[in-house]
Amino acid sequence: MSYHQFSLKQWHTFGIDVYANNIVIAKSKAALFCQCWQKKTWKTEPILLLGQGSNVLFLQNFDGKVLINRIKGINIVETTDSWLLHVGAGENWHKLVKMTLDKGLGGLENLALIPGCVGSAPIQNIGAYDLELDQVCEYVDVVFLSDGEHRRFNTIECCFGYRDSIFKHSYKDQYVVIAVGFKLKKKWKPILTYSHLRYLNPKTVTPIQVFNAICRIRRRKLPNPNIIGNAGSFFKNPLITTSLASDLLVRYPNIPQYLQKDGKVKLSAGQLIDHCLLKGLRIGGAAVHKKQAIVLINTGTASSEDVVNLARIVRKRVAEKFNVLLEPEVCFISSRGITDSVEVIT
Ligand code: FAD
Ligand code: EPU
Repeated sequence: MSYHQFSLKQWHTFGIDVYANNIVIAKSKAALFCQCWQKKTWKTEPILLLGQGSNVLFLQNFDGKVLINRIKGINIVETTDSWLLHVGAGENWHKLVKMTLDKGLGGLENLALIPGCVGSAPIQNIGAYDLELDQVCEYVDVVFLSDGEHRRFNTIECCFGYRDSIFKHSYKDQYVVIAVGFKLKKKWKPILTYSHLRYLNPKTVTPIQVFNAICRIRRRKLPNPNIIGNAGSFFKNPLITTSLASDLLVRYPNIPQYLQKDGKVKLSAGQLIDHCLLKGLRIGGAAVHKKQAIVLINTGTASSEDVVNLARIVRKRVAEKFNVLLEPEVCFISSRGITDSVEVIT
């Protein structure tokens, strides 16, 4: 039955006015149990887990229950060479980064200011400024919705990749992340390979200084979702074959290419969109951000359809010019749950 009475506007960062049948905040594993445990409920009424809704686009009202994960708790254990952290999935990611630095534990600083909850971080293996979550993650604790089985996935089992993990594939829609384990090495080494961090001296720089530099870069480049609705990079940076890369290098020698370990070549989606002169393009209330072309924004009145139509145009123009197909990074949510985003914008 659909009776969309609860607004999701404050529960996702795109700020689009969509509704759900019900919204429940779960502060403990027990609360989650009673909301979605019984197979019967789960099968008849769709359930959607949300952290802070900073990586989702609702396409319609949601015909089910949205569970906001707020399972808290941070436990830190010291070993001879590391700090081991066990963190509840509902903890705020940026606050965790800040808290570790305040305690003198380096290692998460390059991932500062990424919105969202700790439990969502492994799902797309969050990354920024040459650090990805899998480099600091030890395990992901999950509970399956169908039978309540608890399982710990080590990092190999998580199959982490660029903006990817097993949780987006085999187990899609079937689990709740309840906690994440981290290992922060005591022997800290700064990661300063990103172009705007190279001015820092690796011999003297501290984790806090790297954190402050990252926060400055991000504040300059990315729109604040509390002011302008968005979900960060709307598209993933495309990974292309070496043969297409060679072809593009001849036609566009100024577009940088980044060779990956697996032989694929990564391009910057923002740069491709920028080259198509799409910055500022507006469809209804949705627009390509003027400073960062990879980010699509809600100028205030965007409908889901505006964002989808804009994404479709951007994908089409980039494909026509470069023969490269952009894929959304953002999870698209239909009235029944997570849906195939590429299909929607094709
Ligand atoms: P949500 O959007 O709430 O959920 C994302 C997906 O995970 C949904 O499919 C949801 O159903 C599922 N999910 C959430 N919690 C659970 C759970 N406990 N169990 C099972 N499934 C769950 N990402 C980066 O990688 N790097 C960046 O630099 C970056 N910068 C950003 C900047 C801005 C301004 C914004 C708005 C976003 C940015 N993002 C970035 C994207 C986003 O912040 C991350 O993907 C983040 O991890 C999402 O967390 P969330 O709690 O908001 O997830
Ligand atoms: N660029 C342009 N025009 C633009 C935007 C960027 O020419 O409009 C150029 C930049 O000058 C730079 C290159 O494109 O040479 C890459 O840009 P940037 O370093 O800003 O990174 P990005 O590829 O746009 C990625 C991640 C971000 C992450 C940053 C920093 C993806 C999809 N996005 O963005 O993650 O914070 O690198 O590491 O991988 C997110 O996932 O939501 C996100 C924000």
